[in-house]
Amino acid sequence: MSFSKRLIAWYDQHGRDLPWRHTQDPYIIWLSEIILQQTRVEQGMPYFMRFSEQYPTVQDLASADEDDILNLWQGLGYYSRGRNMHKAARMVVSDFAGIFPTAYDEVIKLPGVGEYTAAAISSISANQAKAVLDGNVFRVLSRYFGVEVEINTPAGKKIFTELANEMLDADDPARYNQAIMDFGAMQCKPKSPTCGSCIFNQECVAPKEDKVHLLPLKKKGKGSRNRYFHYFIIEEDDKIMMSRRGEGDVWQNLYEFPMIETTEPLSGLDILKDERTKEYFSEDISLELKGNVIKHILSHQNIYAQFYKVNNPSALKLKKKSWNYVFLKDLNKLAQHKLIFSFIETNIS
Ligand code: ADE
Repeated sequence: MSFSKRLIAWYDQHGRDLPWRHTQDPYIIWLSEIILQQTRVEQGMPYFMRFSEQYPTVQDLASADEDDILNLWQGLGYYSRGRNMHKAARMVVSDFAGIFPTAYDEVIKLPGVGEYTAAAISSISANQAKAVLDGNVFRVLSRYFGVEVEINTPAGKKIFTELANEMLDADDPARYNQAIMDFGAMQCKPKSPTCGSCIFNQECVAPKEDKVHLLPLKKKGKGSRNRYFHYFIIEEDDKIMMSRRGEGDVWQNLYEFPMIETTEPLSGLDILKDERTKEYFSEDISLELKGNVIKHILSHQNIYAQFYKVNNPSALKLKKKSWNYVFLKDLNKLAQHKLIFSFIETNIS
């Protein structure tokens, strides 16, 4: 039996019963794929349930308020995905007469839909013969064939795209693609693959050559940039000062506390010496540290956040335009990024 037929047989027996696998509706399948970009199935599941319940059709999503979408998105990270989701829904309504496309060449025109997502949607919803290629597929194929080419290079991408399409079962692309996704996630796992019980144990190259943990090969990228964020907690009666982030940086348009960024770490209350602190607050400001520095890792940057409580809110003398007092009871209506809602959850009542 061929690789693909055996993989599908494995899937029929061991594949996961996931809610988006009970439909052929391309909108629902698209919704699941967008949520699962850079997100594990267990983490994405509750989001999928909420989105599909609240916005059962593409028309519902298109006419939704962007802030409501971002609020529901909260905790998934990479908020541009949430924003693109909204744009794509509006595009389906305006450019596709509200009928969600299933053809690869059309789906890929939607914002937020790359090659992987377009292959997943067109194969799962319309059985188009397009192989998905992501971390799972790179891992399974590189180990099975013993391919020692770096996956994040143009040469690697070309070789693996060809290999993935060659292996695809053209009779049943929908099941094949979902089979390789599950096989990569459940059996051929990155750190602790279960080679002993694997159906491909006899012919898979990696265990024979003791290269399971070496594959797939990846070229090391540039390092991450360190950024230091200093957040001021300014609470007055039943209100707290919040700030909306601008465009062109991380966490676009999301809410957080008023802050100052430095390029170097600061110790203790050294933020008091910063010119911007002196500009915003009068000299009698009383500041105290709230908790320790929190490290938050994003794809190309490490963010180190320190929170400071302003004991005397009256010391605020200059309020930036983006800063506004918000009633504590309304805080959960604002879409915040993870650093902030985690802090609020444990520190603000
Ligand atoms: N990861 C991305 N898309 C997926 C899908 N359709 N099923 C399971 N895991 C996935």
